[in-house]
Amino acid sequence: MSGPNSDYDPVEVTPLKPEEVEAARDAALAAIGAATDLEGLKRVRIEHTGDRSPLALANREIGALPPQARKEAGQRIGQARGAVNKALAERQAVLEVEHEERMLVEETVDVTLPTDRVAAGARHPITTGSERIADVFLAMGWEVAEGPVIEAEWLNFDALNLGADHPARTMQDTFWTEPQDQGIVLRTHTSPVQARTMLTRTPPIYVVCPGRVFRTDEYDATHSPMFHQVEGLVVDEGITMAHLKGTLDHFAESMFGEGITTRFRPSYFPFTEPSAEVDLVCFVCRGAAGVVESCRTCRGEGWIEWGGCGMVNPRVLRACGVDPERFTGFAFGMGIDRTLMFRHAIEDLRGFFEGDVRFTTAFGTEI
Ligand code: PHE
Repeated sequence: MSGPNSDYDPVEVTPLKPEEVEAARDAALAAIGAATDLEGLKRVRIEHTGDRSPLALANREIGALPPQARKEAGQRIGQARGAVNKALAERQAVLEVEHEERMLVEETVDVTLPTDRVAAGARHPITTGSERIADVFLAMGWEVAEGPVIEAEWLNFDALNLGADHPARTMQDTFWTEPQDQGIVLRTHTSPVQARTMLTRTPPIYVVCPGRVFRTDEYDATHSPMFHQVEGLVVDEGITMAHLKGTLDHFAESMFGEGITTRFRPSYFPFTEPSAEVDLVCFVCRGAAGVVESCRTCRGEGWIEWGGCGMVNPRVLRACGVDPERFTGFAFGMGIDRTLMFRHAIEDLRGFFEGDVRFTTAFGTEI
């Protein structure tokens, strides 16, 4: 049996009971207060004000109430929702400020910190210096020639008119590979590249040969068992010593500046005849009267030793298959390390070989 319809009593509708509304509001306020970051607050907002939150459900119930009960329930829920929304807005503002401040601290860039960037490497000053030297000759239409550093004794000595018993062999203290009678040396100079060039090419020949050479020298401020030379070789019709002199003057001025020319002193090399030592005008005192006397660089000479040169010995031309009746040639050889020491006022040759970047970075970061 069914009873009579009773009046709809809002207090009996659970979500609308005052203590339920208060509990929902207090739970929301507590959760808002406990949210420590904006993400957390976003979850709280969904949970306590979203469509499925207790207060939203309660709000939806209001419409079903009889008119006289609506006002009171509406007020109660409205106040509760208002309190929650206000708390949310306040907490949002606080957390936003905190977030901003944290970002400022966390993302601060300390521009004074040392960088961990790997320094860009640069080529070695001997490499760039050798290229600069070669460029002087390339600009005159010459070519660069190269040869091996482990060289046949025959090319290092015999082909250059330095036979086995030649006294001049002892001028070049040689590293031999074992066993010595197999005739393989570490080249003592770049002159074997002359021989190789003449053996493989026909004149006219205009080549410059920079490269590494080896001698059993002590290692000190001016000597090293491994160093670098640049060889020049010209073989053509009608070549004279005047061409040699003009070429070396141009080379010297290109490296050391205008007015730094050369002089020749008679000398002896088995592979050239006649031969000469090449001196440079001292690039410090420039040979100026009155200054030369006190110049420490040239020790009052006005000149500085630079290398050797001469007219290619006809015996060498013949050994290398060139007709000395038709062709003549000149050759010269300079220390590259020594040339760069002059050019950059370096007092200790060892700086080139010891790999200390404080030495090499002074030459810049040319790649
Ligand atoms: N090769 C000689 C040396 O190392 C230098 C040189 C080269 C001399 C060419 C004359 C001609 O001493």
